[in-house]
Amino acid sequence: MSITEIDLRHVWHPFTQEQTAPEPLPVARAQGASLFLEDGREFLDLASSWWVNVHGHCHPAIAEALAGQARTLEHVIFAGFTHAPAARLAERLVQALPRPLDRVFYSDNGSTAVEAALKMAFQSWRNRGERRRTLFLAFEGAYHGDTFGAMSVGRSSGFYAPFEDVLLKVRHTPFAETWQGDDGVAERETQALAELDAILERDGKRLAGFIAEPLVQGASGMRMCRPEFLRAVCQRVAAQGVPVILDEVMTGFGRTGTLFALEQAGVLPDIICLSKGLTGGFLPLAATVASTAIYESFLGQDFSTAFAHGHSYTANPLGCAAALASLALFESERTLERIAAIRRANQAWLEQAVRLPGVTRPRALGSIAAVNLGSEGSGAGDYHAAVGPLIKARCLDLGLLVRPMGNVVYLMPPACITPEELSRAHGTLLQVLREAAPLYSQA
Ligand SMILES: Cc1ncc(COP(=O)(O)O)c(C=O)c1O
Repeated sequence: MSITEIDLRHVWHPFTQEQTAPEPLPVARAQGASLFLEDGREFLDLASSWWVNVHGHCHPAIAEALAGQARTLEHVIFAGFTHAPAARLAERLVQALPRPLDRVFYSDNGSTAVEAALKMAFQSWRNRGERRRTLFLAFEGAYHGDTFGAMSVGRSSGFYAPFEDVLLKVRHTPFAETWQGDDGVAERETQALAELDAILERDGKRLAGFIAEPLVQGASGMRMCRPEFLRAVCQRVAAQGVPVILDEVMTGFGRTGTLFALEQAGVLPDIICLSKGLTGGFLPLAATVASTAIYESFLGQDFSTAFAHGHSYTANPLGCAAALASLALFESERTLERIAAIRRANQAWLEQAVRLPGVTRPRALGSIAAVNLGSEGSGAGDYHAAVGPLIKARCLDLGLLVRPMGNVVYLMPPACITPEELSRAHGTLLQVLREAAPLYSQA
């Protein structure tokens, strides 16, 4: 039996309607920006394998670090024990983050990083005797993962209708998205801030925390906002004493052109969530980094104020070793400069793409570039737009892994992509958009 046949018999895939989805493609190996199938077909990974890959697949420096760590200490319980990879990685992350973010809590993935952050914010109030703060605030269109707390703050993404009755209480405030050539942004921001003010006026003293994807909302369609908008939102929220949680699970580790998006946003959060690119795309690992004040609110003489949260694989040494190797590559390979070059090339591509009829809302940040297909009103992240799967299939035929989100087509290549590979990707994608234009340009 082939791998695909075995898979079809026994495996249940994520975010997939198993009854109608095309057969999964069997990947045999990967290198640099490319994936190779068992039958020899090659795809450029323009989605960085669900936004995790940073320096390219199977990077030898990370593979070496992992192999060495696997022969030394593969895993150990992290309550009551520590080890060099976890301690060194915590130190390295704290060095890279602004003060007062200085306590690293490890977990396994983006959702658990968010779950831990929400619980920290919530319990921090309880530990200080404040019981009224039972609400969270999040942006409309936010996505923060698929566990219950993360679903609650991301419910406006529209993925979680079956769970509506069992989610936490959350207020959603508008996200003033923008794009190149947008002349309505100032008005949209003013209106969004006015709605936020109304929420804060009503519920400000009941909020336990505010969570946001800084500068780019990934899963709702690479929707971008201006740094000054995010700053204004965070200032208003912080003025109510509400902790700000930045979810940098997608934006972290260079994706937006700086190591963390908060550097460009000029926002100082109380908690930050990191995962995905943390290990360069090799292993699941997450870090929720909290401020001194949040951390200290959990200190006490008995367990009642402790953070009763942990996972079997917390601070897995292999993951931590991969993360340290990945962070070292940012310096030795000048990763942020590579990402700046990708951005320049993406910008030239966007300028060509928007000349096609029906291609709208061009936007770019770091290694991310995105456009919408169809009329302005069709909305970003319309997952039911039929054009997405067609573009994905045609791109696969032509050797590109592109995963449109409904009517949003985006590129997010790993930093190692060569100028030739990127130019091939840009040319092919323009061809595919041109071919598909009759499907979306009237929409
Ligand atoms: C901003 C953000 N937060 C959290 C998550 C959840 O991460 P994970 O899929 O590792 O649970 C994602 C995943 O796409 C994300 O984009």
